[in-house]
Amino acid sequence: MDVRDLEAAARGVLPADVYDYIAGGAFDELTLAANLDAWAAIRLRPRVFRDVSKVDLTTSILGVPVSCPIAVAPMAAHGLAHADAEPATVKGATNAGVLSIVSTRAGLPIDDIAPAFGGEPWWFQVYVMQDRGRSAAMIERAIAGGATALVLTADTPVVGRRLRDVRNGFTMTVPTANRPTDQDPSVTFDDIAWLRDLAGEVPIVIKGVLRADDASRCVNQGAAAIAVSNHGGRQLDGAQATADALSAIVDAVGGQVEVYVDGGIRRGTDVVKALALGARAVFVGRPVMWALATGGAEGVEAFLNELREELALAMALCGCPSIHDVTSDMVTPPRA
Ligand SMILES: Cc1cc2nc3c(=O)[nH]c(=O)nc-3n(C[C@H](O)[C@H](O)[C@H](O)COP(=O)(O)O)c2cc1C
Repeated sequence: MDVRDLEAAARGVLPADVYDYIAGGAFDELTLAANLDAWAAIRLRPRVFRDVSKVDLTTSILGVPVSCPIAVAPMAAHGLAHADAEPATVKGATNAGVLSIVSTRAGLPIDDIAPAFGGEPWWFQVYVMQDRGRSAAMIERAIAGGATALVLTADTPVVGRRLRDVRNGFTMTVPTANRPTDQDPSVTFDDIAWLRDLAGEVPIVIKGVLRADDASRCVNQGAAAIAVSNHGGRQLDGAQATADALSAIVDAVGGQVEVYVDGGIRRGTDVVKALALGARAVFVGRPVMWALATGGAEGVEAFLNELREELALAMALCGCPSIHDVTSDMVTPPRA
């Protein structure tokens, strides 16, 4: 099912307030729209007469071999979308050979989610809570359960205001280990060292960076990768679109660490554009929830396989038989 139809179908099966919670963004949803517009505004410059009889999408993300440079973004409370919740997303993604990032705000305990990976690598997203002991306990469970990287979200010292949720009187019906009031707004770059101590050998990805200077500081503090993100437009409304922020961050730190991007990635062509701008991989958020809502684990698997097929088609039409062939000259320059 096409991603646009998938969203419409999910809207049909979900309670209206749950649909709005997932679909919505902060305030006037300027950044939510900008993320989509920015990918659309970038145009591809395809190569002709390359042998694309075989297109190889395999790559690795922080050393994890994956079927394509696409991962499932961390999202709260999958139980809102489907009764099978996080284990269904995990099974669907793992069957598709796609890496999943489990949220601190998952609706089930980590010990109930981790077995669904069947020993395959996965990543755990971290929010620093005012009660550091609770964050530490979750991190320890995640590492014990097989998490091979920690993704520290930087753009949520406090939680953005989403007017759809205010108007709907939305309340989280799925119990989550972390609530908006648990966030520690005093977190600084120095806390990356706190997390490194807890993480041991497990690498740390910083998610939610839009500025090259911040990316450099994160790398200087020991970050193994940077995820360019504005939280899908759910945090600071008016924040720059991620497609527009990506190049400067790749220029600043791309030689030292892997850079990922999320926000508005909907098509295989968006993935090609992100790779051309220097991303190692992309994360996809809302469409995975739409797939889960409409089809459970099978729906997630089918959607991710479809997105990978779209990427293969886009690569073939761009004259790129492998990920390494996607170079910066494949796109028109992004807007500043
Ligand atoms: C319903 C929902 C819940 C989310 N929960 C989290 C979260 O718990 N932690 C986090 O780091 N990001 C969270 N995000 C942001 C996503 O990880 C990701 O940055 C964003 O969804 C990407 O944009 P896209 O939805 O346009 O693909 C959430 C996004 C959505 C839509």
